[in-house]
Amino acid sequence: MGVKPSDLAIHGGPKTRAQPLPPRRLFGVAELESVRAVFEEAWASGADFGYQGSFEQAYVEAFCRLQGGGRADAVASGTAAVWLALAALDLEPESDVVVSPVTDPGGVAPVLLQGHGLAVADAAPGSFNVGPEELERALTPRTRAAILTHAGGRPFDLEPVMEVAARRGVAVIEDCSQAHGALYKGRRVGTFGAAAVFSTMFSKAHATGGSGGLAYTRDESLYWRVRALADRGKPFRDAAFDPRDPRAFLFPALNLNLDEVSCAIGLSTLSRLEDTIERRLAVARWIDEGLAARSRAVSPVPALPGTAPSPFFHTVRVDERRLMVSKVDFAKAVQAEGIWINPDYRYVVAEWPWAAGRVRGKASTPNAAAFRDATFNVLFNERFTREDAEDVVRSILKVEEAYRAD
Ligand SMILES: Cc1ncc(COP(=O)(O)O)c(C=O)c1O
Repeated sequence: MGVKPSDLAIHGGPKTRAQPLPPRRLFGVAELESVRAVFEEAWASGADFGYQGSFEQAYVEAFCRLQGGGRADAVASGTAAVWLALAALDLEPESDVVVSPVTDPGGVAPVLLQGHGLAVADAAPGSFNVGPEELERALTPRTRAAILTHAGGRPFDLEPVMEVAARRGVAVIEDCSQAHGALYKGRRVGTFGAAAVFSTMFSKAHATGGSGGLAYTRDESLYWRVRALADRGKPFRDAAFDPRDPRAFLFPALNLNLDEVSCAIGLSTLSRLEDTIERRLAVARWIDEGLAARSRAVSPVPALPGTAPSPFFHTVRVDERRLMVSKVDFAKAVQAEGIWINPDYRYVVAEWPWAAGRVRGKASTPNAAAFRDATFNVLFNERFTREDAEDVVRSILKVEEAYRAD
């Protein structure tokens, strides 16, 4: 006897996954101990902790080791990091800046807030990520920079995209917020562009606590500009500068510092990043293997050859022709089985009135919208076991059987 629609949890049937999926709990005992160490160091020294201290130094050094060199500033948020990397480029006013088709508002708003023209590149077909031709089509004679996101932890095709950018004189800021530690041809994402940004808020692969971010670059001058822009224009490059003499500050700027407690948490979660990535890759692989072997309507989306993603969410493709319901209704039914799903990813920039209304040129990214409409995102964390991944697959198969068209 096959599964009927009335058997589905969304229609009152029993859930495939009745027990809650494992909570992530990134912040555990190790992070508590790291915070304690900040207090203990402060007590021992007799000076309260602040920012730009030994924990930030250790954190950014560890991060740069992982990246294979470069320099980084720990800042208040990923959005702040985008703001800083863009401001550090010191573009002429009203330059055009291209953003990715699928990203977070924090990767877009700084363009508008800094008075630049906003353009949106489309995705490569079958992807949330920008492709080289799509980037080229979004460029104007005034384009000076592009903020390009590795969406969902999957690197975009860096070599051809960087080739277009270099040929057209466009500085690339890689937004690695969803892709900490991902590799492109064996090299970390973030090391290809002029600068890179990483949100380290609590749901990211490694995190500095509730909020935080890193602005990263291998360009010494950009680094010092970021440092000054992140702290009221202080001329850090001059080792002898006096922080109590604002006459020497370089320009008006905000205070976007991250504090020592956050950096200590970042250092601790960073030490597990490679293990976190490995575990997340295993979960994604288990889901994909299960779907490839047993599903007719839902299939894996292969990563770009030569890349090693750092999965933030896991996107799977739905063949609506094999179903009696829409992709969104299908995904909602899977969700109701007790699985974490985003049925309809809304992070398509061209669909946001506050951004699209201010785009120069065409605010339409049909490839990105088509890919979103054909997929849903499975949400998970590194604590998922093989059994948890199997429950994801079993839920999809149950809904598929109830809704199959053939
Ligand atoms: C791609 C991307 N860029 C920027 C941001 C903004 O980071 P934050 O939330 O730390 O400000 C995020 C955050 O989720 C993101 O995913």
